[in-house]
Amino acid sequence: MTQQQTPVMIDHQDGDEPLSNHSDNTTFQQVFEKRMSRRSLMKGSLGTAAMLGFFAGSGYSGLAHAGSNRHSPLIGFEAIPVDASDRVTLPKGYVHQVILPWGEPISGNLPAFDPLTNSGEDQAHQVGSHHDGMHFFPIEGQDPYQGSSEDGLLVMNHEYVEPRFMHASAQGQALSRSAVPVKGDGTRNADEVLKELHGHGVSIVRMKKQADGQWAIEADPRNRRVHGLTEMEISGPVRGTDFVKTRFSPEGTRTRGTLNNCAHGVTPWNTYLAAEENWAGYFINHAEQPREQSRYGVAKEGSGRYGWELADSGDDRFVRFDVTPKAGSATEDYRNEVNGFGWMVEIDPFNPDARPVKRTALGRFAHEGVVFQPAVEGQPVVCYSGDDARFEYIYKYVSAQPYFKATAGGHLLDNGTLYVARFNEDGSGEWLPLVFGMGPLTPENGFNSQADVLVNTRSAADAVGATKMDRPEWGAVDPKTREVYFTLTNNSRRTEADAANPRVENNWGQIIRWREQDDQVTAKAFEWNLFVLAGPESDSDLAGQHLDGGNIFNSPDGLWFDPDSRLWIQTDMSESVVNTGPWEQFGNNVMLAADPVNNVIRRFLVGPVGQEITGVITTPDQKTMFVNVQHPGATTTPEQFAAGELSSHWPHDGSPYPRSATLVIRREDDGVIGS
Ligand code: FEO
Ligand code: CA
Ligand code: CA
Ligand code: CA
Repeated sequence: MTQQQTPVMIDHQDGDEPLSNHSDNTTFQQVFEKRMSRRSLMKGSLGTAAMLGFFAGSGYSGLAHAGSNRHSPLIGFEAIPVDASDRVTLPKGYVHQVILPWGEPISGNLPAFDPLTNSGEDQAHQVGSHHDGMHFFPIEGQDPYQGSSEDGLLVMNHEYVEPRFMHASAQGQALSRSAVPVKGDGTRNADEVLKELHGHGVSIVRMKKQADGQWAIEADPRNRRVHGLTEMEISGPVRGTDFVKTRFSPEGTRTRGTLNNCAHGVTPWNTYLAAEENWAGYFINHAEQPREQSRYGVAKEGSGRYGWELADSGDDRFVRFDVTPKAGSATEDYRNEVNGFGWMVEIDPFNPDARPVKRTALGRFAHEGVVFQPAVEGQPVVCYSGDDARFEYIYKYVSAQPYFKATAGGHLLDNGTLYVARFNEDGSGEWLPLVFGMGPLTPENGFNSQADVLVNTRSAADAVGATKMDRPEWGAVDPKTREVYFTLTNNSRRTEADAANPRVENNWGQIIRWREQDDQVTAKAFEWNLFVLAGPESDSDLAGQHLDGGNIFNSPDGLWFDPDSRLWIQTDMSESVVNTGPWEQFGNNVMLAADPVNNVIRRFLVGPVGQEITGVITTPDQKTMFVNVQHPGATTTPEQFAAGELSSHWPHDGSPYPRSATLVIRREDDGVIGS
């Protein structure tokens, strides 16, 4: 049929973390430096040390010893060494099982996995690729953290796909991890496009522990895929506005699909939120772009990230990725299609008939994920979300209505106040409201409604003077103290730091934390400091000490507090640098456990070649942990791919290509994970 003639390709390289902030607000690095110099501290790590652990009256001590060997009442395993081999390693006494690899059938007629023959339709009934944020919902369906530890709905994001591993037409071609095969006439095979769209999104799978201790899929009508074509509602202030009117939804109330779902969130009312992170590059606009496109990095030349708009069928589901105005009005073309992306998407895993809902009140940006403060009866719902691009911001949402368990639901995410963070030099911080009519968010400055503020969240945050950060990734809330931690993964393009500051050209990243003023989660002010400056032994800082062989790490990304306030840290060294140059000493990407009170961090898990570790949750009894391994083998070069020589074959299941998959981790003695 669609013979590949004179094969060519589209290759946007590693375009998934676009630099698109053109505002000139104070950067986090500038604040950090000023604060350092103002305090006349010694340069280098000593100065850094003095900045760490300054929460007045807290248990943190900047003078305490730090490291991987120091005693911790929370962490009972021995740190494992770095590793660069194509396997999963865990501490002594821990074992793992691999479940739900990309392509595992979960619904429909259960199409068996075969990457070379599976159709686009098959992929809609199989686990997606590039596993990311994840939650285990106990099967009772009442509470996201209480209930069965042996039976539940495992829900996970699939951030993106690696097309060369998906299509027979790619075989033998020198394709990079981001390239797609294109036909000789410049179009793309429509079924390949369909397969890639279906490979994105979310999987909902009932998993049950078997008599032999292994976990297996349980047939269930709730097993399903949400993907790049699933119909969704748009809710909140942007619903029904001109910003989201399209040929598909002239009334501006619906859109199709969710894309680039990185991390997630879990609501207090037992639903799942999938974040839309690097969605902008999937769209192309050849004409002049409005700020709601240009400020986010919509493609300007060539094609969208995967060239979906080039599908040879001309199908409406695919042409919408070209948002160049083509007709006389917005309801006749797809000029507004991209405004339907960049949101948090709420999914009820227990109700397959409920349409997913894009909650626009939480803002539009490269949402890494969202994390909630524990809900309190009669108090507003509070959550935080990072915008993962260089020099972007951290946000907080406070619902207008209070939370009552009996009536709580997604409506609490439709009406509230979105704030953006300013980190002051003296360790104080402010939440700046992004409310139409307040401060600079007025028509004189180009903001004409709350929908306008939300569709252009980044521009609004620029206007109010938020602090530019080093790529905010996941956040986590300590269940005992309510302090909030966020990973800032790295930012090699930061040029304005002075040479004495270890974070100039920040290749390693750090973890920041804050406490809301007077411990009121709705506060408009907070106190902040840095928990750890990641990096090698010579350039890292944990409470005044360097990291050591048992805990050096860099590029923190995934972050989660378990119920005991153990902090789990996952790393994402880019596949373009991992195992090379100064990154070589760190081996493959890992997960570590931290005791932030006693300043202990220990390496817990090392993943296989070419992947990142992302997504972590335990069952309520904390005896089973689920962890995702994303994009093993992504370090395979185009030449190696053409020659059939892959850098990884993990999980070594005999399939022709490596596969993202989920690890089920338990202790041989059935104890609490990490303790
Ligand atoms: Fe998808 Fe920011 O990691
Ligand atoms: Ca991530
Ligand atoms: Ca990544
Ligand atoms: Ca990342």
